[in-house]
Amino acid sequence: MKKIILDCDPGMDDSMAIVMAAKSPELELMAVTTVNGNYPIEVTCANARKTLELLERTDIPVGKGLGKPLVRDVPKDPFTHGKDGQAENNLPDPVMPLDERDAADLIIDIVKANPGEVTILSTAPMSNIALAMIKAPEIKEMIPEIIAISGSFGLNKYAFLNATGDTPQSEWNVYVDPEAADLVYNSGVRLVALGLDVATYFDVNFSDEDIKKLEESDKKEAAFLLQAIRFTNGRGFDAYCTVIDCMAVAYAIDSTMVETMDAHVGVETKDGLTLGMTVIDRRHHFIWEHLPLIHVGCHADCGRFLKLLMELVLK
Ligand code: BDR
Ligand code: CA
Repeated sequence: MKKIILDCDPGMDDSMAIVMAAKSPELELMAVTTVNGNYPIEVTCANARKTLELLERTDIPVGKGLGKPLVRDVPKDPFTHGKDGQAENNLPDPVMPLDERDAADLIIDIVKANPGEVTILSTAPMSNIALAMIKAPEIKEMIPEIIAISGSFGLNKYAFLNATGDTPQSEWNVYVDPEAADLVYNSGVRLVALGLDVATYFDVNFSDEDIKKLEESDKKEAAFLLQAIRFTNGRGFDAYCTVIDCMAVAYAIDSTMVETMDAHVGVETKDGLTLGMTVIDRRHHFIWEHLPLIHVGCHADCGRFLKLLMELVLK
């Protein structure tokens, strides 16, 4: 089993990522850490615990993280996940306590106790992960891989058509805390960035048969997903919005699900038109080799992704 920590900001798609991560037999979910992002920190903390309670996995610790980006104020999200941040599933208030440690300390403790073994999944602004690296730089040598829903690289039409940040070509998680992303991109830890190029394909859509299976299932997480799809469709958005973050979990389970390319990438931290943009240098000549070399998702197998997601939700 691959040991993972999921750092997230639930969010309906983060909630579905928790579902997949907690139910996959390939993964050992060591902790869920939460951060400000889609919603304020109190909401993301509650939603992570509500989701684990729904799954009856209160054995998984939840660490509360940063309530704002490293150096910036909290921006406003133009997209809504509903009043409760979970597509108005209105799950009961959580009972399970938060871990005594904050998110960064929880990450540091788990990584140090399992050197070289814990993959970090990041489906939110990278504030907690950056803080953990600032507090304990030695953990950088101990993290084998970070798999992140991060960036927008312009490799196909999906990258910018579905830009989630509030500048024309940025992705929400980088846009919210570009300084944190810059730090993590430059940390030297192997980074797989699954950006909007692969995580927001319109083809990630549920068939009538899938919907029927969700309707007929007695699993609470199936009902959750069904409500999220209806909520999202009802607001004129496509169903892929309900499962964006699940792509990071799918990749952790089976890395052949997404094709990646190695590329030098820089994060724009200056305010203005391009704030939060992940600039990829694909030139043949005069390439900026000082930009960190990361692994960028360029094509995802949507059919296999949806199949895996459905299997885990229904099992
Ligand atoms: C990211 O933004 C959030 O709304 C989603 O949860 C996802 O992590 C995609 O840009
Ligand atoms: Ca998210």
